[in-house]
Amino acid sequence: MNKYHESVLLNDSIRGLKIKPEGIYVDVTFGGGGHSKEILKKLTTGSLIAFDQDQDSLINNIQEDNRFIMIHSNFRHIRLKLQQIGISMVDGIIADLGVSSHHFSDNGRGFSLKYDSIIDMRMDKKLQKDGRYILNTYNQQNLDRIFREHADFNNPRSISSAIIEARKIKEITTTFDFKKIFNSIVNKQYENKFFARLFQAVRIEVNDELNALKELLVQSKDILKPSGRLVVIAYHSLEDVLVKRFMKFGNFLNFQEKDFFGRAKSSFKVITKKPIIPSEFELKNNTKSRSAKLRICEKI
Ligand SMILES: C[S@@+](CC[C@H](N)C(=O)[O-])C[C@H]1O[C@@H](n2cnc3c(N)ncnc32)[C@H](O)[C@@H]1O
Repeated sequence: MNKYHESVLLNDSIRGLKIKPEGIYVDVTFGGGGHSKEILKKLTTGSLIAFDQDQDSLINNIQEDNRFIMIHSNFRHIRLKLQQIGISMVDGIIADLGVSSHHFSDNGRGFSLKYDSIIDMRMDKKLQKDGRYILNTYNQQNLDRIFREHADFNNPRSISSAIIEARKIKEITTTFDFKKIFNSIVNKQYENKFFARLFQAVRIEVNDELNALKELLVQSKDILKPSGRLVVIAYHSLEDVLVKRFMKFGNFLNFQEKDFFGRAKSSFKVITKKPIIPSEFELKNNTKSRSAKLRICEKI
């Protein structure tokens, strides 16, 4: 049991990479290093480059293995960061999206509903906007947008109006200040789900998660060698739909682009027609895996 993070869909995702022992692989979401360590076991002369934007993950750095390079960066800079170390193409990329258990258990970072702490929510502590900034300065349209687009609320206006009224009286500073705004309106039966969606919306905005994912996917098209594999684990439908469309159509719209001759312009062959989800056994042993969806494709 890794206290920092228990890896999800470990065997299926590593199998999905179809690792060549001499290949070059990238784990763009290193976290506790669970996926990276499994990849290294399958390499001989190959190498592994890992990314994580959170400084904290560096404590899990794999020392004394000259096949491994750790890069502290957002994966949206993948191509540039790889170029800087002399790599232009790779044999496989794995992304295990979102936050790690460490983010929720660290009670000072504002990710968890359970602890009263400053609403920070930045995975990369160098980011300029944190959750507190967003909740206290965004105008109504912007607040509407994040609760509609990042959490699928049908009536985001009621949420943004409550926030705007509350902050007129007192700055929204902590997670409990934020929750308190909705205490009298929320249906107690669905309280946890409601707050989880609220927190998710703010977190996605703080870390610009959907744009970073899009940028990663677009660059993966150019970085992967023919037959190279892209393996992505998503934890909510907003991410999963981007991954699914991109793997199928090579874009984020829901249609196939055609070339001049009417041939499909596909960069990938989809390996998982349906996403792979955790087994009963994994769900029982790691409840955090419950929303995971794994998709795999291969560069043509
Ligand atoms: C679900 S955890 C990955 C866990 C890892 N696979 C393991 O087995 O331990 C996601 C990690 O990705 C990092 N992360 C999320 N978005 C990122 C981004 N855009 N760029 C770089 N790292 C990111 C988070 O800081 C977190 O450590």
